[in-house]
Amino acid sequence: MSIASRVANVMSSIEEMSGLDGVSQPIVDWVGKAVRPAIVRNTLSGEVIGHPLHPLLTDVPIGAWTMAGLLDVVGGSSSERAADILVATGIVSALPTAASGLNDWSDTYGPETRVGLVHAGAVTSALVLYTLSARCRARGNRTRGKVLGMVGMGALLAGGYLGGHLSFGKGVNVNRVAWEEGPGDWVAVLPEAELGDGEHRKVDADGTAVLLYRSGSEIWALSNTCSHMGGPLDEGTFADGCVTCPWHGSIFQLRDGEIRRGPATARQPSYETRVNDGQIEVRHVG
Ligand code: FES
Repeated sequence: MSIASRVANVMSSIEEMSGLDGVSQPIVDWVGKAVRPAIVRNTLSGEVIGHPLHPLLTDVPIGAWTMAGLLDVVGGSSSERAADILVATGIVSALPTAASGLNDWSDTYGPETRVGLVHAGAVTSALVLYTLSARCRARGNRTRGKVLGMVGMGALLAGGYLGGHLSFGKGVNVNRVAWEEGPGDWVAVLPEAELGDGEHRKVDADGTAVLLYRSGSEIWALSNTCSHMGGPLDEGTFADGCVTCPWHGSIFQLRDGEIRRGPATARQPSYETRVNDGQIEVRHVG
């Protein structure tokens, strides 16, 4: 059996460990409440920068601790101070990294939540080990500090692999409409008479699920698939010219798909609309 197959089996085993739910669910529920304020949600999700924040932040502790390990091994005594600073940088930067990761984790379900719990356990172990390493270094026990750092790197690598599995294997926080193009030419999707003021409909536009909403004389159209994790927007709630996703509460402007509230970080694809011969027609914008 190849290494990849063995690792895949380990990932599957973790995903099926329903016994982890008793630990993870109370934490997920608590985090979900803590990040409910829009400002907290938007900041930790990355809505503010238009990109998931957690993968960006992970670069700092991973980079700092990796370089510290390198200096520990090949840097010699003249690099000791630099290695200590890098270990400390990793510890400090791990805190906002953890906060953004917890925010993302609170949106997961079932197998993803279980993998997320093990991921969190691994990177927390790394943080504890590097904190102990920093203490040993400060007290002059550099050899022990280096060993703790190396063990911490092992935990960090395991945690990093699990995080990568969540993103690239399970699609957590991947823009679900990144490849959605929709019809480039006008396509009829609904008789105009069937969409009253303040009403919405889910329609099919050449195989793409599109959400229509009428506001007075205007008809707006967005992709019906939430960019965050694929929630069905037609099952959401509608108010103030916006739709709220039923899964994690992202709020999009119906007029143009702009984000009013995360966790979504990618704006919702919008479609041009017109009425032609009594039919509402849509086509993809740009
Ligand atoms: S799927 Fe998460 S907010 Fe829509």
